[in-house]
Amino acid sequence: MAKAYKIAVIGGDGTGPEVVREGVKVLKAAAAKFKFKLEFTDFDFGGARYMRTGEALPDSAAAEMRKFDSIYLGAIGHPDVKPGILEKGILLRLRFELDQYINLRPVKLFPGVETPLKNKGPEDIDYVVVRENTGDLYTGVGGFSMKGTPQEVAVQTAVYSRFQVDRCLRYAFELARRRKKKNTLALCGKTNVLTYVYDLWERAFHEMGEQEFPAVKREYYHVDATCMWMVKNPEWFDVIVTGNMFGDIITDLGAITQGGMGIAAGGNINPAGVSMFEPIGGSAPKYTGKNVINPLAAICAGGMMLDTLGEHKAAAAIEKAVMDITAHKLKSLAAGKMGYSTTEVGDLVAEALA
Ligand code: IPM
Ligand code: MN
Repeated sequence: MAKAYKIAVIGGDGTGPEVVREGVKVLKAAAAKFKFKLEFTDFDFGGARYMRTGEALPDSAAAEMRKFDSIYLGAIGHPDVKPGILEKGILLRLRFELDQYINLRPVKLFPGVETPLKNKGPEDIDYVVVRENTGDLYTGVGGFSMKGTPQEVAVQTAVYSRFQVDRCLRYAFELARRRKKKNTLALCGKTNVLTYVYDLWERAFHEMGEQEFPAVKREYYHVDATCMWMVKNPEWFDVIVTGNMFGDIITDLGAITQGGMGIAAGGNINPAGVSMFEPIGGSAPKYTGKNVINPLAAICAGGMMLDTLGEHKAAAAIEKAVMDITAHKLKSLAAGKMGYSTTEVGDLVAEALA
């Protein structure tokens, strides 16, 4: 019997629903070709629902999501809602409550895509960032005192437990071993200043590497230097593992080197639970409803979802179809400059796949 997967779809805000629609189109084409079933259920979480109900996410949402095999997300962020409310209330809350402790962000330059890095091509830009996704400055630990006075103090604390660090490192080591590229895991930290948190990361990194993954080569880079090498020598990297905050920052840099937010995809992964896949760009309000936004990032996120579900052939076929389009069809990856509309790009990928 054909395998069937239940997918929760959260289109979200801005261009989110538009790109997810194309992603679903491609996922359906992949399911038809590779003979499995996908059942999609839509959820209206996002800015519009928040403004209507005053609630970012119902308390039952995480439990509801656990009934699905995976979550497919468009974008969260609404111009009429104060920054932070939806991001924390929907995106981060789902990441935390579903314990999606890995944020997997491949940085891969596809053929035909322009990179701002001089003299670099697809053979140079192909690595994966494993961003820890539950700790660090993201936990909300902190506060104000004397708020609103000239003496005001604000504190925000980077929090990491050994448990969080270890499970993230183990995933990253296993990925480095599985990728068979350079068999190298680079830890990105800041041990010269963040002498508690990255001291913990560094000790855990070497202990685990020595004991459990002796065949994986270990490298260490400070985060500032990581940025420099991501621009100057991206071919050095295979798998980079880092904390939540640095991971957030360096993956935007990585994204622009692979052609920008039109193509960069990511997965919020709980290896033992329900994962959530999303284009890493935002809701792009100024392009909303114009049928000009690039859906390839969402389509690639859909491919990552299938890979995580175990449909490796279908995932590889989606990536190949996207490469076909970037190499032979699209003029640019930028919104409005692709030479095709959002829906046409979805059609092209679905056709290339079939
Ligand atoms: C990302 C985003 C989010 C983050 C924001 C929207 C909370 O920038 O997914 O990278 O910081 O994780
Ligand atoms: Mn980010």
